[in-house]
Amino acid sequence: MTEPTAENLARRKSDHLDLAIRGDVGFRRTTTLLECVRFVHDALPDCAVSDLDTSVHVLGKTLRAPLLIAGMTGGNERARDINRSLAEVAEERGCALGLGSQRAMHKDPSVTKSYQVRDVAPNVLLLGNIGVVQAARMSNQEVEDLVGAVGADALCVHLNPAMELIQSDGDRDFRGGTETLARLAEALSVPVIAKETGCGLSRSVGQRLRKAGVRHVDVSGAGGTSWVAVETRRADAPGQALGEVLWDWGIPTAASVAQVAEVGFETVFATGGIKTGLDIARAIALGATVGGIARPVLQALDQGGIAGARAHLEAVEAQFRATLLLTGSRSVADLRRCPR
Ligand code: FNR
Repeated sequence: MTEPTAENLARRKSDHLDLAIRGDVGFRRTTTLLECVRFVHDALPDCAVSDLDTSVHVLGKTLRAPLLIAGMTGGNERARDINRSLAEVAEERGCALGLGSQRAMHKDPSVTKSYQVRDVAPNVLLLGNIGVVQAARMSNQEVEDLVGAVGADALCVHLNPAMELIQSDGDRDFRGGTETLARLAEALSVPVIAKETGCGLSRSVGQRLRKAGVRHVDVSGAGGTSWVAVETRRADAPGQALGEVLWDWGIPTAASVAQVAEVGFETVFATGGIKTGLDIARAIALGATVGGIARPVLQALDQGGIAGARAHLEAVEAQFRATLLLTGSRSVADLRRCPR
């Protein structure tokens, strides 16, 4: 593999934003399977909406609702505006926020400011981000510096073999991933979250991660944004042919959550095709701690600015609260036990 230049990385990130906002990059046939989770309606809930407690404790912080704006971007001016706008909304709504891959700032420290949001979001649960393939070539201190430069509370280490295979200059050598995660989980001052990017984590991968000392995961399952699709849209002819075949590849989000829930992680983030507060409730009922949304929040921000992103999150929270009430759950812990 030839290492992409800082300019190539910036262009790739910009293409990703354009395709995620306007492109046809959803899964075609694979769904999240969250639609298969049906709650039993409680016609006699016996509590007021104002009694409901939607808060959750995650990685040392309290979220007002179990909601994450999943990591998307960084590395240029446009990304900076997006990260800062989303940070402002996350701070206001009391939800968690992920940053996009910090590879660009590792290569070119002058773009570090595009990831720095602590001045507008001093209290949010903030997740840093780096690819496992990049982290494998970095020292513990270099990774720790990425975390420190943005004031992250935890670091997502993303796994993305499917999308790399579609990129003409993508990685083809995935050796050492487990050792890298074990090394970082042991050495970093913050928790490590092993995160997929739209293809899901299986029970067996969960067990390997847990054995390596990883205590937190983001399943990022199939059914929402297809990263094979995003890369297929940017690929050369061989990449396009491969991408057409693998477009729908991956473990549906619901199946992935159910599989890793049995492994014994402290935190399970569920991203990948989460659209509504009902979806978040379904993921939690299957064993997730927090539900996360990427592309739909980006689209709401693109269409309506900060007010649009805020309205989107408010609607998701209202849907989540309604689901709590209609299942007779007063808290998120009750929801985990409610009949379905
Ligand atoms: C992403 N995602 C992502 N994930 C990651 O770990 N590092 C990254 O840099 C990015 N970049 C990125 C850019 C854009 C524009 C989008 C939409 C998404 C993946 C994201 O965090 C999430 O796991 C998946 O997109 C699935 O969620 P949705 O989009 O189906 O809600």
